Amino acid sequence: MKVTFLGHAGLKVETKYATVLVDPWLSPEGAFLASWFQYPDNQHLMTPSLLQPTLIAISHEHLDHVDPWFLAQVSEQVPVIIPRYDSLVLKQKIAGAGIKTIVEVPQWEPVQLAKGASMFFVSESPMNHDSAIVIVADGKTLLNLNDARLSIAQLRSIRAKVGGIIDVLALQGAGASWYPICYDYPEERKRELSHRKRMAKFSYLQRAIKSVEPVTAIPIAGPPCFLDTELGWVNTEMEEGIFPDQQQVIDWLAEREVKNTVLLLPGDAFDIREQKKEADPIWRNFSFSDRNSYLENYAQKRVTQITALKARYPEPTESLWDTFRDYFQRLLAMSPYFNSKIGMRVGFDIVGSGGGKWAVDFRPGLSGVFEEMGECSYGYRFASRWLPPLLNGEVPWEDFFLSLRFVAWRNPDIYNDHLLGLLKFACPQSLKAVEEYETSMDSKEQMTIHAEGHTYQVQRYCPHAGLDLHEVGEVLPGRILRCLGHHYEFELETGKCLNGKCKSLESHRV
Ligand code: FES
Repeated sequence: MKVTFLGHAGLKVETKYATVLVDPWLSPEGAFLASWFQYPDNQHLMTPSLLQPTLIAISHEHLDHVDPWFLAQVSEQVPVIIPRYDSLVLKQKIAGAGIKTIVEVPQWEPVQLAKGASMFFVSESPMNHDSAIVIVADGKTLLNLNDARLSIAQLRSIRAKVGGIIDVLALQGAGASWYPICYDYPEERKRELSHRKRMAKFSYLQRAIKSVEPVTAIPIAGPPCFLDTELGWVNTEMEEGIFPDQQQVIDWLAEREVKNTVLLLPGDAFDIREQKKEADPIWRNFSFSDRNSYLENYAQKRVTQITALKARYPEPTESLWDTFRDYFQRLLAMSPYFNSKIGMRVGFDIVGSGGGKWAVDFRPGLSGVFEEMGECSYGYRFASRWLPPLLNGEVPWEDFFLSLRFVAWRNPDIYNDHLLGLLKFACPQSLKAVEEYETSMDSKEQMTIHAEGHTYQVQRYCPHAGLDLHEVGEVLPGRILRCLGHHYEFELETGKCLNGKCKSLESHRV
């Protein structure tokens, strides 16, 4: 089996009888409203032969993984394999690109790709549509975690399922998030939170590698770069923030004695049987340390695409209030469970012509859509040109947030993933699936935790998305238990979640 890196999270996996493209992202317009671009540039890989794979596997719906521009150029007969999610978003993006054969596969279910080659997906909880892809072929195994943050138990089960040995583990070292960089924190606080997130990501990588014990680990799936001058500030996140480059990931791991890593740039290949890298000569003079001059040149090459994208979304000429109100009234009617989990008034400061300061109240008994902002616990501010495509469904909310073309604020400063969940799924069937998953979680199984001279009996599975706290729980000073799944922190004395709108942890001092 040979793996060629296509840039970002894209891989070309060649086995004896099949060529599989995984998450190919090559659009010259980047993704997320021309905000993210592949770093470094991968356009030289856009050749006719790349468009003739045996099949394509796509892990999840983010546009740096599902690229409609690329899929539109592949023959419509090439099958695309995806994990079965309750939401239709991923399927719709692929079908919209003209692909006729979309095969949805339940997680853990092996699919035969060709003679001697099979694959399966392993997914996170229904709230987070991220899936790892495992390809077993020619006696070798590739585990591509991409953006999925699987539990240690899931990683162990994958190892057991493939017979114990993972030859290559591909995994994400950079974040894919708008937190904290789009929040209106003071600069110093933002830097501190951003660095904390970077470290949390790194320590997950370290734990994943320790648990999988791959022969070789390859950091993939980021960082992206930002070529629109309005977003140039985000590139500084590579220094100490949420977007470390591949070299920084490798260096950090090496300092912790993880040395079986390989750096691949777009076009570099890795022969898994030989455990040997084949370098693409185009990168002979490339170095991540020359980032600024590289990005300056790269930005010049993408001016046309960025200008064209903005021209497709002109400033509205009429008030957007009626459409906004109707849209959120429909959303408010979808799931009483989500409304109560959100449980706050959310402000929308839509700047520019057609906009206004409006609010949606999700609190039971107070719910409604209002033409004035009032007292909000959460808010978004963005240009009015982006609102019509959000309201008509052309741009999904999560894709918009990933564009980083907005500012958010919240008071109290706690995360509410049900707000994002409602906006991103906006379909009763998917919302119901999340509700059923969350309300069926077993809080009875207990474990013991010692903290600062006290002993607590706490529920073993995190009340957020059910990860095993025995594996991903970390005791912090102040008798706080942090779940490394999504970094919710629980006060052991009361079980209260301190930084998110999440059910309390069952916790009793003994
Ligand atoms: S599973 Fe998400 S914070 Fe624990």
